[in-house]
Amino acid sequence: MFFKSKHLLGTKDLQKEEIELILNTAESFEEVLEREIKKVPTLRGKTIVNFFAEPSTRTRTSFELAAKRLSADVVNISGKSSALVKGEGLVDTARTLESMHVDAVVVRHKAAGVPHLLSQMGDFSVINAGDGMHEHPTQALLDLYTVRKRFGSLKGLKMVIVGDILHSRVARSNIFAFAKMGVEVVLVAPYTLIPADVEALGIEVFPSLKEVLAEVDIIYLLRLQLERQEETFIPSLREYSEFYGLGSEELKNCKEGAVVMHPGPLNRGVEIRSEVADSSISLVQAQVESGVAVRMALLYLLLGGMRRE
Ligand code: CP
Repeated sequence: MFFKSKHLLGTKDLQKEEIELILNTAESFEEVLEREIKKVPTLRGKTIVNFFAEPSTRTRTSFELAAKRLSADVVNISGKSSALVKGEGLVDTARTLESMHVDAVVVRHKAAGVPHLLSQMGDFSVINAGDGMHEHPTQALLDLYTVRKRFGSLKGLKMVIVGDILHSRVARSNIFAFAKMGVEVVLVAPYTLIPADVEALGIEVFPSLKEVLAEVDIIYLLRLQLERQEETFIPSLREYSEFYGLGSEELKNCKEGAVVMHPGPLNRGVEIRSEVADSSISLVQAQVESGVAVRMALLYLLLGGMRRE
């Protein structure tokens, strides 16, 4: 099996076999991360640019670590330190990177579609590290990896995604990716935070967590993305937390063996309370841990010769 695409722009266009290939490759890289010297020469001579025009802790750091563990050269560009602040457009940024013969650009941008645009402009591979409210495919892949590791397999599991679905690129990528792998996905959110196209995706929406809690294996909480909300979608944070936040009281009726996930950063006390975030059923730290191995797998598959030309 070869990785067919030159880019990773979203999970919507990924095939099930490609997802399996990424997860299986990540499994083999996990062994490298357990060694005393956590480095292999696989991508020696390759140059990867981390172009983050929006803030990030987990994604940017784990892409940098993943590239370094594979011996690639890494260059970091942030929004504030780039010529974007001087008014340079995306086309000229892409041409500049192209002239420097970089092999891959990992891009995060507040505008949906920027990774797609970049992928048409240069000879380098483009990896979407989060574009506006559109997709965050590597988050979905590391989430799949984390769940598969915990449950042994994915098929037949049921997942509820809770919260600010409307503004969440993580929700979109996870809906496509988990459904492809045989996981039933349902949503719980206030109606003001549900995108209009959800019904077309054939996904059931419930107004409260109580209605599905006893049936789901995975409770996936989303951050309330106040920075993307120009109007008021909820009456107050306190009420949102009361109706959609998860604490130990709400968890009393959950299915045995159920897990709680969150992509981070956490709004403790809003969508998740500390007693849950730091509990044994929380996979939050495991998700972060999976990020490096999954991103190593992806860089290897895109740049290391496992792609069909
Ligand atoms: N989950 C996620 O994308 O986190 P960062 O914004 O810290 O990268």
